[in-house]
Amino acid sequence: MEISFAAPSSKVRAGAWVVAASEGKALTPAAVKADKASGGALTRALQFSRFTGKAGELMDVVAPEASGVSRLVLVGLGKRAALDAKELEVIAAKIVARLESLGEPAATFEVEVPKGAKVRGGEAAAHLAFGARLRGYSFDKYRTRNLDEYKRHLQTLTVATADAAAARKAWAGLSAVADGVLFARDLVNEPPNVLYPTEFARRVKALSKLGLKVEVLGEAEMKKQGFGALLGVGQGSERESQLVVMQWNGARKKGAPVAFVGKGVCFDTGGLSLKPSAAMMGMKGDMGGAAAVTGTMMALATRKAKVNAVGVIGLVENMPDGGAIRPDDVLTSLSGQTIEVLNTDAEGRLVLADALTYTQRRFKPEFVIDLATLTGAIVQALGFEHAGVFSNNDRLASRLRDAGRRTGERVWQLPLDPAYDKMIRSKIADVKNIGGANSGSITAAQFLKRFIEDGTDWAHLDIAGVAWQDGEQKPMIPSWGTGWGVKLLDQLVREHYES
Ligand code: BES
Ligand code: MN
Ligand code: ZN
Repeated sequence: MEISFAAPSSKVRAGAWVVAASEGKALTPAAVKADKASGGALTRALQFSRFTGKAGELMDVVAPEASGVSRLVLVGLGKRAALDAKELEVIAAKIVARLESLGEPAATFEVEVPKGAKVRGGEAAAHLAFGARLRGYSFDKYRTRNLDEYKRHLQTLTVATADAAAARKAWAGLSAVADGVLFARDLVNEPPNVLYPTEFARRVKALSKLGLKVEVLGEAEMKKQGFGALLGVGQGSERESQLVVMQWNGARKKGAPVAFVGKGVCFDTGGLSLKPSAAMMGMKGDMGGAAAVTGTMMALATRKAKVNAVGVIGLVENMPDGGAIRPDDVLTSLSGQTIEVLNTDAEGRLVLADALTYTQRRFKPEFVIDLATLTGAIVQALGFEHAGVFSNNDRLASRLRDAGRRTGERVWQLPLDPAYDKMIRSKIADVKNIGGANSGSITAAQFLKRFIEDGTDWAHLDIAGVAWQDGEQKPMIPSWGTGWGVKLLDQLVREHYES
């Protein structure tokens, strides 16, 4: 989708002309203009419509030939005081969904945000473009038939705004974030026969062109350094495990970087503790944490964020061959702590343990945030609307909560508490990798905490419920892989960690 910004002009355009009304059918000036240009087609259609102007409501009419446009679309903006950036993005996404179903190749948004809204002018125009771009995504590289049914029709979008210069400036940042979200979605959507650890690493390497510094550690190097936990997970796979380290140094000073660590299990069969077939479906998405970290680093580099940031992802495939780890095995992690593996399907925490140790020891970061599709239990607890957050630092947790509210990638805090530690006590090693039947997300977080060193501010995001979507589609997410986390982490950095 080609997106541009232009001053509103009285000239009639081609394609669909999208104008707005507030709640109570209050047409904005552009909507009045469009109505006139179409000989009253809008006001007439309103008489026979249930349209009231609630946020995201839509009404479309074919425009008379003399108007020069194919159709008029009226979109509701709801109550002005409630209208913020996130709401505008959702509204734009809903418009694009409607235009797609109509098969429109071109559109002009002349959506005037009323006074009193939380975001206006060029900024508002950029957020409309952002929502449109996220909705305009599709993953259809493996379709060879009936392409017309799947392909995106909307090719050109013009967002009309009185402040096009400000819109372009805001869009420079937001389009970088969209790049990161879409890149993360692509990674999650790719099938596991295509996207295995070395292929994932290769795709990250290609991001060097953005100014990211990318290093890849293979199995030999990790073995030398002592990544016993991560390597243990990968040892039942034909595919080589990888650790990828991304660095973006955009701050003026050298200071401690912010750090993001991602679980990158490219496919999770469960290992010898094999998953039943229904539960194994979709486990190509078990690298959603790594995808979010990669997408975030891409966004930061693309928009040249004034921050020092590192992204570390542990890439493995959890498979059950003759060389696989057994339940009962004991692994020695990079930290030196020994781990009794009682269930090979609790593999994500093993990968993260070593990636967290490596990140803290090498970079001494300002904070470390890990993202992982870690437990089915978090889906039981929070469903698909919130990720779980666990943190040893209340300020970091509340910053994540605020950034989540602003971007719509919301998080809900669950407890860390030494009282849960007895559930992961091993009979023979320092810790075991499963807790028990209850509070599975908490015991997983409690396990990770064993690998957080004194003085490190840390938050763990369990994204098992939000990294992909099987049921109802959200307006801004038209694919299975969501790219969840990129918007959230970018917002966190933007608000608090840029110099
Ligand atoms: N990748 C899964 C978690 C998962 C489950 C993500 C469902 C998304 C949807 C993880 O590796 C796993 O298998 N966790 C086990 C842990 C258990 C063995 C302690 C789980 O949640 O059942
Ligand atoms: Mn598993
Ligand atoms: Zn897993």
